[in-house]
Amino acid sequence: MSERFIFGNWKMAQSLAKGQEFLAGWKFQAESVRVGLFLSYPHIKPLMDIAPKTLEFGAQDFSDEQSGAYTSEVSAEMLSEIGCRWSLLGHSEVRQRHGESEERLSKKLDLAEKHKIQVVFCVGENLEAREAGQLEEVLERQLSVLKAFSGDCLIAYEPVWAIGTGRTASTAEIEEAHNLIRQEIPGVALLYGGSVKPGNSKEILSLEAVDGLLVGGASLSLKDFVSICESALESS
Ligand code: PGA
Repeated sequence: MSERFIFGNWKMAQSLAKGQEFLAGWKFQAESVRVGLFLSYPHIKPLMDIAPKTLEFGAQDFSDEQSGAYTSEVSAEMLSEIGCRWSLLGHSEVRQRHGESEERLSKKLDLAEKHKIQVVFCVGENLEAREAGQLEEVLERQLSVLKAFSGDCLIAYEPVWAIGTGRTASTAEIEEAHNLIRQEIPGVALLYGGSVKPGNSKEILSLEAVDGLLVGGASLSLKDFVSICESALESS
């Protein structure tokens, strides 16, 4: 059975108390499925400290600067210091809200490599680009910064129009995008994200081109997230 990755992105949507409750009820464990949670900064250490060792923890972003006068920012080194070994980079909400640029992402990748943070690098086109037939062009541009990166990374394909909308990409759309990504960056595990839920996770995971899932909304519910993790066992 090939290794699967099921990652939850809790965004800014879970309180610390709810997170503690979630972890108190966490029982899922399977050798072939790596499960991780991407959390807001203040929750990483307290939740990591009470979690079973089988769960991995990551941040949702970090600064493109090493250290210095950057009020409000959190560095890769600080994550590393608390034992946080993963981070998302390039999530579409960060790209949109913080005007994330390829140049800044490239600096963040250098810092991830330096501080040994494993990256889940997010890419995906918005609806306008999809409708204009620009999928390939967008993916190529977003992936260009990974070419010089030799640290540990996974890539998550998350079409922006499928995130939090309830509209999942079709299996054909996922396969097309994942094959394009694989051509650009071979040998990297690929996750799909965008309205993944217990009702569609098994079908998506059964695709040859998919190694795992990045789950937003449905990862906040213990029952739904466990059921998605279980579907990784059924679909291998
Ligand atoms: P969603 O979010 O599952 O709620 O669509 C996915 C993500 O943003 O990573």
